[in-house]
Amino acid sequence: MDDFLLLGQTLAFTDNPLRCPWAACVRTERHGGLRVTGGIITALGPAEVLRAAHPALPVVDLGAALILPGFVDAHAHYPQTAMIASWGKRLIDWLDTYTFPEELRFADPDYAARSAARYFDLTLSHGTTTVCSYATVHPASVEAYFVEARRRGLRALAGKTCMDRNAPEGLRDTPQTAYDDSKRLLERWHGVDRLSYVITPRFSPTSSREQLAALGALYAEHPDCLMQTHISEQTDEIAWVAELFPEARDYLDTYEAAGLLGPTGLFGHAIHLTARERDRLAEVGAALVHCPTSNSFIGSGLFDMAGLASRCPVGLATDTGGGSSFSMLRTMAAAYEIAQLRGMALHPAQLLWLATAGSAEALRLGHRIGRLAVGMEADLVALDLASTPAIAQRAAEAEDLWEAVFPTIMMGDDRAVAGVWVAGAQVS
Ligand code: GUN
Ligand code: ZN
Repeated sequence: MDDFLLLGQTLAFTDNPLRCPWAACVRTERHGGLRVTGGIITALGPAEVLRAAHPALPVVDLGAALILPGFVDAHAHYPQTAMIASWGKRLIDWLDTYTFPEELRFADPDYAARSAARYFDLTLSHGTTTVCSYATVHPASVEAYFVEARRRGLRALAGKTCMDRNAPEGLRDTPQTAYDDSKRLLERWHGVDRLSYVITPRFSPTSSREQLAALGALYAEHPDCLMQTHISEQTDEIAWVAELFPEARDYLDTYEAAGLLGPTGLFGHAIHLTARERDRLAEVGAALVHCPTSNSFIGSGLFDMAGLASRCPVGLATDTGGGSSFSMLRTMAAAYEIAQLRGMALHPAQLLWLATAGSAEALRLGHRIGRLAVGMEADLVALDLASTPAIAQRAAEAEDLWEAVFPTIMMGDDRAVAGVWVAGAQVS
């Protein structure tokens, strides 16, 4: 079906509800819908208006299901799929004990291919249509991800994870091979179909100054590429960075000195930032990515949504497999809980923004994905707002859409996903 109407409840953002009163940023339709033509949203409005304007078009009527843009996961490690939910460690020990041994398995391109296929099966079944992922140090792990994403027609982003120290033999590259391999992958994949390459130093503890500088040079040569890394996730990590880079003013400075701080930067976690780091990130216009299930699972800390979302673009992410779920519903619930611990009650509109348009804007793709609007790509998810008995009995009491959707945000999982469309084609 190349041209059809998709009807249900709809929710369309016109602005960022973290920066202005949420009610002024969103339009909802109890009986709404959209027209999808050639993979693009070509009309949006009340169901009856759409039906009357396009009487000959096929109609997919989802009833009371809520049609949203497909979820956008702004930070994940697809190679950690098989070790998600590993017990009992904090960041540095967790990397050494669980993460690096699993990432070593990606030296085998067949393992990488199987893992990428399994990963996209899982993310799509949870309603996530775009992921920005770290691969491993192996170029073939990037190939596997992009081949699989392309086969499925997905808009997807990823980069080779670069590390030349403090990682085991077999997971280390060098400044030169990091530059050369990243450049080759970037030239091969960036802008092919719906794919984007992301320059990816893992984090300062696993890169020498020389490697960071080499990737900074590559970033300068490709200003249209994103750069993703981690910053200030745990206090032990920050102390380690201070030891490794005594000349740096702070953690952010280790990136800035290497030319890795720019407006297309994506900084994962960003929990324990200093005042200077916050000011500098805001001044530059870099994006932050909040990974709430990871931050509680690995015991990292509480992201300052109230203080940061007014200053920087903020995306939301699972951080698979430091995060403990593939579900952006579960991730929104964790974001709500973490904000509560900091005295902020995130409204469902703000949570849904973060999981869709907020992440898309952080990835600089807000003009293509993340909102229901004419001209946007038709990557969509439909949510059943009564997917389990526990959710259904609560939603039955709801007096408006926000009360109806919040139980699904807090208690929902892949059972709530009633349909997923990628570029207008239904995939689940
Ligand atoms: N910091 C550096 N690497 C990682 C990773 O793989 N996961 C998380 N959560 N933090 C990191
Ligand atoms: Zn991460």
